[in-house]
Amino acid sequence: MCGIIGILGQDPAAPRLVEALKRLEYRGYDSAGVAVLESGALARRRAAGKIRNLEAELSASPLAGISGIGHTRWATHGAPTTANAHPHATDKVAIVHNGIIENFRKLREALVKAGRKFESETDSEVIAHLVSAGLEQGQTPEQAVTGAVKQLEGAFAIACLFAGHEDVLIGARKGSPLVVGLADDEAFLGSDAIAVSPFTTRVIYLEEGDVAVLGRGKTKIIDAGDAVVERPVTVFSGGAAAVEKGNHRHFMQKEIYEQPETTGRTIARYVNAFDERVEMPDLDGVDLTADSAVLIGCGTAHYAGRVAEYWLEQVGGVAVETDIASEFRYRKPAFGKSAFSVFVSQSGETADTLAALRYCKENGLKTLAVVNVPESTMWREADARLPTLAGPEIGVASTKAFTAQLSALAALSIAVGRAKNAISEQEERRLVRALMEAPRLIADALGAEPQIEKIAQEISTARDVLYLGRGVHYPIALEGALKLKEISYIHAEGYAAGELKHGPIALIDEETPVVVVAPHDGLFEKSLSNMQEVHARGGKLVLITDEAGAAAAGDIAKHVIITPTCDPFIAPLVYSVPIQLLAYLTAVHKGTDVDQPRNLAKSVTVE
Ligand code: F6R
Repeated sequence: MCGIIGILGQDPAAPRLVEALKRLEYRGYDSAGVAVLESGALARRRAAGKIRNLEAELSASPLAGISGIGHTRWATHGAPTTANAHPHATDKVAIVHNGIIENFRKLREALVKAGRKFESETDSEVIAHLVSAGLEQGQTPEQAVTGAVKQLEGAFAIACLFAGHEDVLIGARKGSPLVVGLADDEAFLGSDAIAVSPFTTRVIYLEEGDVAVLGRGKTKIIDAGDAVVERPVTVFSGGAAAVEKGNHRHFMQKEIYEQPETTGRTIARYVNAFDERVEMPDLDGVDLTADSAVLIGCGTAHYAGRVAEYWLEQVGGVAVETDIASEFRYRKPAFGKSAFSVFVSQSGETADTLAALRYCKENGLKTLAVVNVPESTMWREADARLPTLAGPEIGVASTKAFTAQLSALAALSIAVGRAKNAISEQEERRLVRALMEAPRLIADALGAEPQIEKIAQEISTARDVLYLGRGVHYPIALEGALKLKEISYIHAEGYAAGELKHGPIALIDEETPVVVVAPHDGLFEKSLSNMQEVHARGGKLVLITDEAGAAAAGDIAKHVIITPTCDPFIAPLVYSVPIQLLAYLTAVHKGTDVDQPRNLAKSVTVE
């Protein structure tokens, strides 16, 4: 969970950068670094490990200079070494970066061909070289950054410091958050407001595609369409990052919007982007070649397991059983000859899931926890863990934890597929490439909010809503219904679309919206038949699909939510966004307590 700080100041920058980096420690990191301008030249200090190691470097060889950038790095592409620590630099520019550059291999190849020398294994270093190339061609820092950013695919936030430019600091964001801190004769950049909070409380939360050109006491923001724009200035009230809503109305909204970053972080944890392979940590005896797997969780976490059931069977080639923890623990399940068990939980404390984990241990199964809260009970008790790197989730209704769970489970499925020889190396590469595209496509899917807003208005007056999906989108339909009911209090049910005729069709009338989750994949025609059945009975269809699906569906649906076209493997990640937004916006219309819905607790530690 990388952190960014940038300072155009009046006082020595290095101690201030370190102070800000300490505020970002809560995000987790394994190396840190700073770069400052000393008489116009870039100077860097970096260290693997904790910030105290960086401080030792700085006291051994101090840095003067009043402008600088700093970074805490959570290793993704490349080991947590000093060489891979940020800032990355040429003699012209130093950069720090959060997120994933999906097309870095292609960019790096072209840059190497052009004679540029790389020092690290990171995806981030291409940014320094791209910006540098622009500067060498005589571009201004602003032109060089905007030009470089246009070549980057993926989700990112960056800060750039330029040799010979004492009064310029440039930041850009797409997918990962970045804030500008304002002060009278200083300016700051931070990965969140906490980073800049030691220096100012006046912040601007940059929007998707923004480039911010900072001078001392002045800021210019250029939006994704190259227009100079004004963004509102917010007064940050301080406190821990975990309880900061930024310019979002609710934590749930903030957490929905964090998903390009949180999925990116989680995917990067398990993917070697250079080799396009999945890298699982030492799984402490969990044998991925086992003949069967058991996946257990509650609520949303259970639905993540249900999605993974399809993945583990289709990609992993392993027989899977998924169950709700409260059922599993009391039905005395029997296990196959060799099986491993997976427990999915945001909190790592859910009583039923924990009891199920203990049951499996007692019965000799190896246990693997897909868990978000470090050092939680499941984290500690499981034989092995696959952390999800969603960060603290405050909204009671789970959103970013769900997609982080999906990210880890998708990687696990690929790892199982390779371990069991169910997929070729080439297929692994294809799936890894698809997975690395998910954060960007999630960011694109967020763009449908204005369209969903109008539909939510209509849904907010419904008494019941049905959600339908097929295949891997059946659990997404279940999750959509759960999200809607828990925060808007509207009764909602998710069904496998093929089950419609076996009962639920009796519920269809003119008053009941039917939300169909159906990308244009191999099952689309089947879903279309189900939509026709709903349409024939006067049901109001809300179709969530891609461009091809919308074209194929014609005008059968009353509303269509267009979701980015994507590889079917990662579609559950991308399609989570519209169902979350639909629930969220409906609840906002109804005026319910979105972040703390009645009767619900974030962590259910009792049966
Ligand atoms: C729904 C939701 C719950 C949790 C469930 C499990 O939005 O948040 O259904 O998913 O209570 O909690 P964890 O993941 O902490 O085990």
